[in-house]
Amino acid sequence: MTVRIAPSILAADFARLAEAVRAAEEGGADMVHVDVMDGHFVPNLTIGPPVVEALRRATKLPLDVHLMIERPEATLPRYLDAGANWVSVHVEATHHLQRCLDLIRRRGARAGAVLNPATPVEALEACWADLDYAVVMSVNPGWGGQPFLPGSVPKVRLVRDRAAAAGQKVPIEVDGGVVADNVGVLVGAGAEILVAGTAIYGEADTRQAIERLRNAAREGVRV
Ligand code: DX5
Ligand code: ZN
Repeated sequence: MTVRIAPSILAADFARLAEAVRAAEEGGADMVHVDVMDGHFVPNLTIGPPVVEALRRATKLPLDVHLMIERPEATLPRYLDAGANWVSVHVEATHHLQRCLDLIRRRGARAGAVLNPATPVEALEACWADLDYAVVMSVNPGWGGQPFLPGSVPKVRLVRDRAAAAGQKVPIEVDGGVVADNVGVLVGAGAEILVAGTAIYGEADTRQAIERLRNAAREGVRV
């Protein structure tokens, strides 16, 4: 199993995003995680399509755009136009999950569905075949730097098992509070994409921070 590392630029200096994505690229990251918050679905407000478009020009890495926005179906096309490669929507934010996933896929991007910590895995039950990845939030979304919720580990396992029971192999992304200490157990439970903000951009050396997570992931694969 290949584990992908996705640095979250939420923890980077927003005045220096081009440098942040360059450091991620040079440091061996697999993709760049972009947190879009609308001030409604979550209390915080971050960036929108123009910044995604600028990031698209600043790096060759795939952009993994995490939409923490209400009714994502309304503005999804703008993120796809801006060059997002992977796009995830929260199941809590839309009445039209399948429509969103279908729209993302039809535009050639990978479609993901995100579960908040209190949302049961059953929310994905009707959509396994429409998913390119499932995201387990391991903090309540809104801010970086929050402590990891340990209940996320059995949840990752449950997502893996339910998808397998439905005959689907859906890569699982984990987002929030991911650090070298919990990476092993997460990968052991079935996580394949690790989002990390503070654990990467909160460190002086981006390359070293990515390397530390990758090594911890290797240990997890061995378990
Ligand atoms: C939380 C965001 C996460 C977060 C990750 O709302 O979706 O992507 O920025 O940052 P850390 O790793 O600092 O929890
Ligand atoms: Zn995120």
